[in-house]
Amino acid sequence: IAEDGHDAWLRYARLHEATAKQFQSLPKLVVTLGDSPPIGSAQTELKRGLARMLGREIRASKQTPTQDFILLGVRDQIEEMFANLHVPELAPDGFWLDWTEVGGHKALVIAGGSDRGPLYGTFALLGKIARGENLETLDEVQNPAAPLRWINQWDNLDGTIERGYAGPSIFFENGSVRADLTRAREYARLLASVGLNGCVVNNVNADPRILDDAFIPQLARIADAFRPYGVKLGVSVNLSMPKTVGGLDTFDPLDPRVQAWWAHKFDALYRAIPDFGGVVVKADSEGQLGPSAYGRTPVDAANVIARALRPHHGVVFYRAFVYNHHLDWKDPKADRARAAYDIFHPLDGRFDDNVIVQIKNGPIDFQVREPASPLFGGVKQTSKAIELQITQEYLGQQRHTVYLAPMWKQTLDFDMHVDGHDTPVKSLLRGVVGVANVGMDANWLANHLAMANLYSFGRLAWDSNLSAEAIVDEWMRLTFGNDPEVVQKVREIQMESWPAYEHYTGPLGLQTLTNITGPHYGPAPESQERNGWGQWIRAEHDGVGMDRSVSTGTGFVGQYSAEAQKQFETAAATPDELLLFFHHVPYTYKLHGGKTVIQAIYDFHYEGAAQANEFVNTWETLERKIDPDRYQAVLAQLSYQADHAIVWRDAINDWCLRTSGISDAQDRVGHH
Ligand code: GCU
Repeated sequence: IAEDGHDAWLRYARLHEATAKQFQSLPKLVVTLGDSPPIGSAQTELKRGLARMLGREIRASKQTPTQDFILLGVRDQIEEMFANLHVPELAPDGFWLDWTEVGGHKALVIAGGSDRGPLYGTFALLGKIARGENLETLDEVQNPAAPLRWINQWDNLDGTIERGYAGPSIFFENGSVRADLTRAREYARLLASVGLNGCVVNNVNADPRILDDAFIPQLARIADAFRPYGVKLGVSVNLSMPKTVGGLDTFDPLDPRVQAWWAHKFDALYRAIPDFGGVVVKADSEGQLGPSAYGRTPVDAANVIARALRPHHGVVFYRAFVYNHHLDWKDPKADRARAAYDIFHPLDGRFDDNVIVQIKNGPIDFQVREPASPLFGGVKQTSKAIELQITQEYLGQQRHTVYLAPMWKQTLDFDMHVDGHDTPVKSLLRGVVGVANVGMDANWLANHLAMANLYSFGRLAWDSNLSAEAIVDEWMRLTFGNDPEVVQKVREIQMESWPAYEHYTGPLGLQTLTNITGPHYGPAPESQERNGWGQWIRAEHDGVGMDRSVSTGTGFVGQYSAEAQKQFETAAATPDELLLFFHHVPYTYKLHGGKTVIQAIYDFHYEGAAQANEFVNTWETLERKIDPDRYQAVLAQLSYQADHAIVWRDAINDWCLRTSGISDAQDRVGHH
C-alpha cells in the first residue's frame, strides 16, 4: 500500500513522546494463526501501525511463543492451539480484545468469530492507540449490529460516476476494469477499518454488460483486490439482461429459460469468484426495465435471481426505490412518498430468504430532511436493509460540509412501533448500505471534512447505538490528531453543519429546494413543482406544504403504525422540522416556537448562512495547528460554502416573498 495520502483516517501519525510511553509494554511479537488473507492483512496492519505511531518494530511468527505476544486468530483455532484459553461467543464478524496469560507469557488476544474479526479487532486496537487510550484494562467483545454492511458505488463502466463528486472511478476506465487496482485495494482497507464487508462496484442503473463472459475475469481482479480485507464483491444487475445481452427473446422472471439463464450465469461467475457476495437490483424505476413488463411483481423478479444465487450463498438486495416519475401533479391525492409502501407492503412474506429489500432512509430521495420510510415497519417478514447516501447528492455535493451521522441517527432511532412494540428502525435491519461514490481524488470524497461521513457510515453500520458526536470525535483524532482545541472546534463545525445546511436550503420539511431535473445543485425551488417527479412542496399563494394526512391529504401518514401516525396526522402534533412535509398550512400558521411559517423560513435562511460564515472563522483559528495543505483546502471549501449559502438564502427567501406576498418582519428580504 502506497503511503501517498490515500490513508484518510488510517494515517497512523507519530504519537507524542508522552502518549507513546504508555504503550511501551506492548508485546514485540505477533503470533498469527491460520493463513487466511484478512488475518494476513491484520498482521501487516499491526506492524505498520505500531511502526508509524510508536516507532516500534514487531516480529511475526506462527510458532508457540516464548515471550509476551499479540495473538491474532479465529476463535476455534485459538482454542485448539491454546487449550486453556476460552474465547467468548462471537458473531461471525465479531471480535474479542483481551489481555491474558498463556504458558507464563502475557498475551494480547485479538480473536474473531470469522477471519474478518481479527482484522476488525486490529483496526479497533490501532484506533485506540492513535487516540492515546489506556489499554491496560482492555477487555471487550464487539459484535456488529447487522451482518450485511455494504457500500454501493454508482460507477459506470466508462469511468464516470453517477452522483460522484470526487473524480473518476477507481474501478473502471474506458469500458473495462482498470489495469491498476491499487486504489480499489486501498479502498477495501478503508472499508474494513470501519467493519464494512461488501461493496457493489457498478451503478444501480446497471450496464447489462457487467456479467458478460469477457467481463467476469475482470471482475475477478476486483475481487482479488478486495479479498485481503474481507470485502465481498457485489454488482448491480439489470433484470432485462437475459434479453438485452443474453440472447433470449424474453426476460420474464417466470419463464424457465430466464431462470436457467440466471442460474447458468451465476454458476460461471462463482467459478471465477467463489466468494462473490451478491447483487443489487433497480427495476421498474426511473426508466429501468422491470417485472412490470410482463405483469410480474418484485417478488418474481427478486426470487428468480435469488434462486440462482442460493446454491452459492449469494444475496439479492432488491431496491424499494420504485415509483412512477410521471405522476399527475394536478391530482391532490397523488403522492410519490406512498410508492414504496404501496408496492412492497402487499408482497411481505413472499420473498426468498436470501432477498433483502433495500429501503432508502426516507420515502422520497435523500433529501435534507425526511421522515423515516414507513416501509421499515411495513414488511415484517422480509429482510430489510437501510440505504443511506454518503455522497452528498442533494446535500451540497461535497462543496458544502454536511456531517450526516446526526441525520442518519434520526432515521435509525425512529420508533416504527411495529405491533405496538418499541422497534426503532435500527432494530429491524439485516443490512446497512451506503452509497459512497468515492473517486480517484486523493482523499476519496474531494473534501477532507466529508470523510467523516464515510467513517461514520461504517461505524453506525457496526454499532447503530454510537452517538454522532462520539463518532466524529474518533474520526477527528485519527484524522487531525488529539489536540483538544482542534478536536473541539472541528467537532463543533461538523455537529452544526447539517442543521445549517438545512436552514439555508429547505427548512421545516420543505426538503432540498434544488434543481430536480438537473444536477441537483444550487437553489431552484420552482423546479420542484408542476412536473411528474413528485417532489412537490405545493407552494401556492394561500399556503405551502404537502398534505399527506389521512383525513384530508394523500393518506401517506396512514402507512405508519397507529402510534407513529399520531405524531404526523395533525399539523399541531407534527414536529416543526417536518411540518411542511406532512401538511399544507397558511404562511401565517404559527409554529410550536410561536413564529409564523413564513417568518421562520426567512429567519432560518439568515441563521443558516450566518452559521456557514462562522465555520470559516472557527476554522481560521486552527491555522497553526493543521498542516498547510489540509488547512488551505478546507479553508477554500468552507469559504466557498459560506458564499454559496448566501446565494441559497437570497434565492429561496426572494422566491418565498414572491409566492406568499408577505414581507419579512425585519425587512431584509427582497432588497438586493
Ligand atoms: C436519485 C439519483 C439518481 C439515482 C437514483 C437511485 O434519483 O438522482 O442518480 O439513480 O436516485 O437511487 O436509483
